[in-house]
Amino acid sequence: MEEELEAHDGVSKGKYTIGLGQDCMAFCTELEDVISMSLTVVSSLLEKYQIDPKQIGRLEVGTETVIDKSKSIKTWLMQIFEESGNTDIEGVDSTNACYGGTAALFNCVNWVESNSWDGRYGLVVCTDSAVYAEGPARPTGGAAAIAMLIGPNAPIAFESKYRGTHMSHVYDFYKPDLASEYPVVDGKLSQTCYLMAVDLCYKHFRSKYEKFEGKQFSITDADYFVFHSPYNKLVQKSFARLYFNDFLRNSSSVAKEARETLEPFSSLSGDESYQNRDLEKASQKVAKNLYDEKVQPTTLVPKQVGNMYTASLYAAFVSVLHNKHSTLVGQRIVMFSYGSGLSSTMFSFKIQDGRHPFTVSNIASVMNVDGKLDSRHVFPPEKFVETMKLMEHRYGAKDFVTRKDTSLLSPGAFYLTHVDSMYRRFYAKK
Ligand code: ACO
Repeated sequence: MEEELEAHDGVSKGKYTIGLGQDCMAFCTELEDVISMSLTVVSSLLEKYQIDPKQIGRLEVGTETVIDKSKSIKTWLMQIFEESGNTDIEGVDSTNACYGGTAALFNCVNWVESNSWDGRYGLVVCTDSAVYAEGPARPTGGAAAIAMLIGPNAPIAFESKYRGTHMSHVYDFYKPDLASEYPVVDGKLSQTCYLMAVDLCYKHFRSKYEKFEGKQFSITDADYFVFHSPYNKLVQKSFARLYFNDFLRNSSSVAKEARETLEPFSSLSGDESYQNRDLEKASQKVAKNLYDEKVQPTTLVPKQVGNMYTASLYAAFVSVLHNKHSTLVGQRIVMFSYGSGLSSTMFSFKIQDGRHPFTVSNIASVMNVDGKLDSRHVFPPEKFVETMKLMEHRYGAKDFVTRKDTSLLSPGAFYLTHVDSMYRRFYAKK
């Protein structure tokens, strides 16, 4: 719980919960890692939707958690498919900070839309354990894996022509120390880079939309905006940025009162506008009602689980599926993916009626977000810190066995049993 972590870390009350906007944070103990979480979500998806493993023709993994500098996590997942005799599966891992999941997703969507598609499903896995050294970034950790099935006539239909991308070379967050799982982070720079990427991707996204649709795009043209969510405060600032962009482009597109509030900031240069705290506060205030309508329903899982790196954006999307599944058909959802370093894309999809079991309502019920959140176990901060210490020790290590007690794992979850003297990792299913 972030509130308990505030007291433990000796920071002012409200710093993590209001300042960063986070409620809780998940983490892996020695029993789980990005490979075990991937095995868990892939086998769970195949089981719950009764998909024959032979029906998967492409499997892509997005991750930034390096366990092996050569061997893809995808190859561990092949164990599930080899059992059924299917080794004809394209795809390997994609890595660029939190963007790898989106790269993996685009690879699969492009494959299904291409001449190389062989008629089978694509499967995308986003898996990460986000851990930081002690300090201000530590409360923005998290851990999760998400699996997504990709195929034609889906209820979540990509508007592939409208993707707006911004990529650039910066040192905002990176992992140059191969002996440590922790990143090097320039927190303030990463916030600015993120907001600049929001602006530029929105500009490119809008112009592509406008080219194809022949009319202007503004935030009223989408029902929900889903953001990569390192922590909720940045999501609030990002949506306010979109609002400010709409105002700058066409001031009559925003309400009169908002226009008057934002007018004093209209002559700021781009760079000045990222540093201007008054603009940040004013734009968040005038965008608040629209934020509550179009963004707040997407924030549940990231606020509860923390930054999940590659899985974060898709966990935010899970939140809107969970909260709004009964009203989503016909609606447009805009997604913003950001990975430090940096890579970013804004893209969109429309929700359609799907055929059972692929209706959004059934997907929401199979995901069982409330059930999963309720079944979590709360650890006191001391235990979290102790676990981080053990994991630091275990990172890159060989020749160890994990403890035998799996009582906190859900039935069906995979877990690490041991790593042998050749660094080979072994997993079992509970
Ligand atoms: N009550 C309420 N709010 C508070 C309190 C309090 N007691 N104390 C501080 N705050 C507010 C601050 O005013 C600030 O809010 P604002 O941004 O609206 O002004 C906010 O809490 C954060 O506090 P700061 O002192 O500005 O920042 P801090 O030193 O805590 O660092 C940071 C925050 C930079 C986000 C850090 O956690 C970090 O480096 N995180 C990792 C990097 C990251 O996630 N970057 C995002 C994109 S890259 C990626 O996804 C990894």
